[in-house]
Amino acid sequence: MANALSIKDLKKEYANGTVALKGVSLDIPEGDFFALLGPNGAGKTTIIGITAGLVNKSSGTVSVFGSDINTDTEQAKTNIGLVGQEVNFNPFEKPLDIVVNQAGYYGIPRSIAIPRAKQILTDLGLAEKMDKTAMSLSGGMKRRLMIARALVNEPKFLILDEPTAGVDVELRRGMWEYLTGLSKKGLTILLTTHYLEEAEQLCKHVAIINKGEIVEQGAMEDVLKRNESSTNTDSKFRGGRLEEVFIKLTSEK
Ligand SMILES: Nc1ncnc2c1ncn2[C@@H]1O[C@H](COP(=O)(O)OP(=O)(O)OP(=O)(O)O)[C@@H](O)[C@H]1O
Ligand SMILES: [Mg+2]
Repeated sequence: MANALSIKDLKKEYANGTVALKGVSLDIPEGDFFALLGPNGAGKTTIIGITAGLVNKSSGTVSVFGSDINTDTEQAKTNIGLVGQEVNFNPFEKPLDIVVNQAGYYGIPRSIAIPRAKQILTDLGLAEKMDKTAMSLSGGMKRRLMIARALVNEPKFLILDEPTAGVDVELRRGMWEYLTGLSKKGLTILLTTHYLEEAEQLCKHVAIINKGEIVEQGAMEDVLKRNESSTNTDSKFRGGRLEEVFIKLTSEK
């Protein structure tokens, strides 16, 4: 079975000379709930941008369900739903139109797209907002609208770049529950987040990236066990086991 995502020796140097990725290799099996973690500027959004075809890579290979993003671009793209880090819809449009229009990009007829969009928006708690202008939504609602838009083409692989940033604790919990439900139905999910406790509880696999290099990856429990210092049993790290490991692997030496 092909991996949902397979990245080999991926390198990226931006035009201004910033080297964002120094040879990243990453495999995400189908059905996984995968956390890509790292400090600000580590290269997470760059990996996502390249995978979704928004950023050109310098070298290396990336394939989505076995389709190379350069030679089999359309096939790779149809499998992906992307929730980007920045809110990027037209604030004057209505949520229902935003989601239905997105379906149009994938050639889904409106007779199918409209009921599907209504259902997804309702599932995400936006039923009462779907006919208001998008700018009237709160920050957390805008994030959920982005998720609805990413799901309308029924992708096999959902990529979320900090979907819970700026979302209050209750809504965040609801969003994680929603994503866990999608994962249980078989959707492959890759997300980045700075909420390490939630990633620790919910994600099956994890990769930690620092300054353009993967410094650790594997099953969540294995990564925790491998990197935990047995002496550290005091309350110094209140954020949980993953936070301790994260700080150990990404702090300046
Ligand atoms: N368009 C760009 N042009 C030049 N440099 C860029 C560009 N986009 C990102 N970078 C640089 O590439 C590096 C990786 O950035 P990236 O956005 O991938 O990090 P990130 O891990 O997503 O960080 P964050 O957690 O803050 O979102 C950083 O040094 C950043 O300044
Ligand atoms: Mg980012």
